[in-house]
Amino acid sequence: MTRSTPTPSAVVPAEQQEREAAVTRQVLDSFANCPDPRLQHVLQSLVQHLHAFVREVRLTEDEWTKGIEFLTRTGHITDERRQEFILLSDVLGVSMQTVAVNNEASGDATEATVFGPFFVENSPRIEHGGDISFGAAGEPCWVEGTVTDTAGKPVPEARIEVWEADEDGFYDTQYGDDRMAARAHVFTDSEGRYSFWGLTPTPYPIPHDGPVGGLLAAAGRSPMRASHLHFMVSAPELRTLVTHIFVRGDEFLDKDSVFGVKESLVKDFQVQRADAPAPDGRELSDRTWRRVRFDIVLAPDAS
Ligand code: BEZ
Ligand code: FE
Repeated sequence: MTRSTPTPSAVVPAEQQEREAAVTRQVLDSFANCPDPRLQHVLQSLVQHLHAFVREVRLTEDEWTKGIEFLTRTGHITDERRQEFILLSDVLGVSMQTVAVNNEASGDATEATVFGPFFVENSPRIEHGGDISFGAAGEPCWVEGTVTDTAGKPVPEARIEVWEADEDGFYDTQYGDDRMAARAHVFTDSEGRYSFWGLTPTPYPIPHDGPVGGLLAAAGRSPMRASHLHFMVSAPELRTLVTHIFVRGDEFLDKDSVFGVKESLVKDFQVQRADAPAPDGRELSDRTWRRVRFDIVLAPDAS
């Protein structure tokens, strides 16, 4: 790991350090009468860390202005279709850290990962073995598995939402028309099983034509996400799981731009010959296809 060297506090004279600490104390004290204890805790901690940051990096006034201008551009490009602040949180790993804090390990429950901006309510329902592509282009991929609780008991009627980009790396919502494709929901059967036809995921960049893209470029970082298929799985009395599965061997697994990859979520998407019999008898004689297994374990709902 490479990390820039902080300015040693030894180079800041003690009297100056005390002046700076006094500013922090004054701001912390301003929240002393906050009626909501949680809000007070969050705000005081935020101030503590922000002030420590300003002091550690010896933030110049010019850098402060650039930071404000960056946040202003981030706000201006944000609307109901594009959320640049979430993207900023994603590339700074704040989204994944929040996922980690809120999804404590519970037995062998499946790990969660970042939600991303491309989920859409009211996806079409498909039956077992149905096809989520609805015309989206890509290599067909048979996805199957089970949903169980941490005691290994099958979960019937779990709702599984799935969504993904097409082979060109675009979600349906990015085409700017009304299409709904490469997304659907399916329910597990009485033994907790599910299956569907999806598309073999391919890598794609997060939206990088705005301020967050500029930040990545300035930092020499790639906007690419490792190839993945999104899942959101919910069932009564169990913790809703938001996750993806990733393709073993993908070139971006160790440099996903939003830090979403967990080893336990990397799966074998096995290549099948064009003439290999499909699990549901579907005719795929003109192209290769893949199959992947994803057994999902839901944690108990702690709330
Ligand atoms: C995605 O999974 O599609 C995504 C996640 C975070 C930021 C941008 C895109
Ligand atoms: Fe995605």
